[in-house]
Amino acid sequence: MDTLKLSERLAPLKGKRILVTGHTGFKGSWLTLWLRELGADVVGIALDPPTSPALYDVARCGDGLVDHRQDIRDAAAVAKIFSATQPQVVLHLAAQPLVRASYTQSRETFDINVMGTVNVMEAARDTKSVVAFVHVGTDKVYENVEQARGYRESDPLGGHDPYSASKAAAEIAFQSYQRSFFNVAGRPLAASGRAGNVVGGGDWAKDRIIPDAMRALAEARPIPVRNPNSTRPWQHVLEALSGYLTLAAELVNRNKQALGSWNFGPPDDNVKCVGELVKELVAVWGSGAWQHTPEPGAVHEAKLLTLSCEKAERELGWAPRWDFRETVRRVATWYQAVQSDGDAAALCRRDILDYMNG
Ligand SMILES: NC(=O)c1ccc[n+]([C@@H]2O[C@H](COP(=O)([O-])OP(=O)(O)OC[C@H]3O[C@@H](n4cnc5c(N)ncnc54)[C@H](O)[C@@H]3O)[C@@H](O)[C@H]2O)c1
Repeated sequence: MDTLKLSERLAPLKGKRILVTGHTGFKGSWLTLWLRELGADVVGIALDPPTSPALYDVARCGDGLVDHRQDIRDAAAVAKIFSATQPQVVLHLAAQPLVRASYTQSRETFDINVMGTVNVMEAARDTKSVVAFVHVGTDKVYENVEQARGYRESDPLGGHDPYSASKAAAEIAFQSYQRSFFNVAGRPLAASGRAGNVVGGGDWAKDRIIPDAMRALAEARPIPVRNPNSTRPWQHVLEALSGYLTLAAELVNRNKQALGSWNFGPPDDNVKCVGELVKELVAVWGSGAWQHTPEPGAVHEAKLLTLSCEKAERELGWAPRWDFRETVRRVATWYQAVQSDGDAAALCRRDILDYMNG
């Protein structure tokens, strides 16, 4: 991205019919707004927005897109949508993405994350119009050995909790389709993007630190913090999306160097513990406090996980843009503005344009 502006880099997506699974979710909502900005024609497949409120509704993400409320576990229905809409690009985000929910809904998590992914890949493989397929993974696909160095794309996959294991299994299914079906004449070129926890305005999910923190600050309560010493690579949602969109644009351009799996993480300095994150959120918000609230009998949560993005930087020319302070500033000011009746769609658009043109 050094030589070409990001907006120029993503220009191949202009006018393309792009099918997004999980478009009603947190990342999917930001993605549909960004694709609209790029002049793409979006088709969505997802269930109803997973939270209330939801960014999808609050930022009117459904305006102008073809919205299919469809469970991806139904292979025939998914195939029918592909056949009817003839997308050129597929971005597959739909998943049961919550670690804690995966302990109580383990079968469902595997069904959606593994077989749902297989169903979407089958449909992409059988639809002649599809030229590019981007699978959305996670940093949790790596076997977490609590090592200090960032995980590389070549590190072993694995997973302790059902969510991580299901995403690692989905990644193995993706690799199988990659080797067996994609990337040959008449079939899509395919890549997988792996990012860590993302943050940004409009996340209202349960059991995620930013939504928990924003709810607490808005209600003038101390932010409840389960694990203040857990270290995470804090990354704005637009950083991860810029990785997926870069892959999609490169695949549309038939750049075979973009095939395979890619880590998209934040700068090393963004690796901070939850305690530092909440301190910074309170500072930007201008008031408030946080409180350590350990949970007796809490489920296992991995302590340390960072990604090495050397491959994406070296071979794709992708680099993260927003440091820790800028990331936290964008998040806290977004929620504060919406709380004071700011227009969520306009706030997202401002972040997207600043990110793309910055
Ligand atoms: N948010 C993060 O911090 C994060 C980090 C790493 C990876 N990811 C990955 O990014 C993707 C999107 O995550 P998110 O945070 O936006 O999640 P989200 O819960 O906000 O959205 C999930 C989306 O998937 C859809 N979905 C769920 N089950 C479905 C089903 N059976 N059929 C059809 N659609 C279904 C939902 O309707 C929703 O649109 C997921 O693949 C997740 O694993 C997220």
